[in-house]
Amino acid sequence: MPKHLLIAANWKMNPAPAGFDTPDSPYRPRTDVDVVVFPTFLDLEKCIGAGLVTGGQWGDPKPSGAATGDISMAMLKDMGCSSVLCGHSERRKYHHEDNAFVAEQVQAALDVGLMPIACIGETEEERSAGKEKEIVQRQLSALPDGVTVIAYEPVWAIGTGKNATPEQVENMHAFIRTLRPSARLLYGGSLNEKNAQELLALRDVDGALVGGASLKAASFRGIIGVAGDLC
Ligand code: PGA
Repeated sequence: MPKHLLIAANWKMNPAPAGFDTPDSPYRPRTDVDVVVFPTFLDLEKCIGAGLVTGGQWGDPKPSGAATGDISMAMLKDMGCSSVLCGHSERRKYHHEDNAFVAEQVQAALDVGLMPIACIGETEEERSAGKEKEIVQRQLSALPDGVTVIAYEPVWAIGTGKNATPEQVENMHAFIRTLRPSARLLYGGSLNEKNAQELLALRDVDGALVGGASLKAASFRGIIGVAGDLC
C-alpha cells in the first residue's frame, strides 16, 4: 500500500541552506509527500515568504509575557507557521525541558492550531540498560491525547552518523503504534539519502525528522525522492 509520508527538515542553529527558495527547491511543498522545514526564528519569515510549509523549532506555552529571549506558540501561528517541534532531545538536555513541560507545549500548540511534532527517545545508557521501552512509554504517556505526530529519535543516533537499525526502528515504532494508534510516527537520527529507503519503507514508519542531511539541498532532494517513490 502506498504511504503518505511526512518529511521534516530540522535546520537547528544553522542558516537556511543554499537553494532553499529556488523554483526547484526540494524544500517546497508537494502533493505526494508532506514537507515541513524548521528554520531558526530569524529565517522563518523568509521561508514563509518563499512559500515553504514552515514550523518553529520551539515555542513557549504561554501566549506572551515576561520571558526574555522566548517566543510563544501563538506568535508562531500568527506569523504563518503550521507546525512546531516539542521535546527535541537537545532541548531536553541543554534546557532541562521535562515531560511535563513538553506536554504543556504540545497542548498549547494544539490550542492555537499548530501541528506539534512531539519528540521522544532514549539515551545510549538507557538502551544499554534495556530500558528503552520504559523510557519511551513514560515520555508518551505524558503527552496530551490530541498529539497527532510523534518523532522517535533515539538520542544516540542524533547527529552521530549512527542510525538505528531497521529492526530497532520497526520494533520501537510498532510498540509506539500500540500506545498511540492514530498518530503519525516519524523516525529521526542520522537519516540520510543512503539509508532513507530501508527506514522509510518500514511498516510503522510514516516519515522522518532530518537534521544534518537536511542542510544540503542535494541530500534532502535524495531523501524526498526516496519518499516520493514510496508514496
Ligand atoms: P540528525 O538530527 O539527522 O542530524 O541526526 C535529527 C534531529 O535531531 O532531529
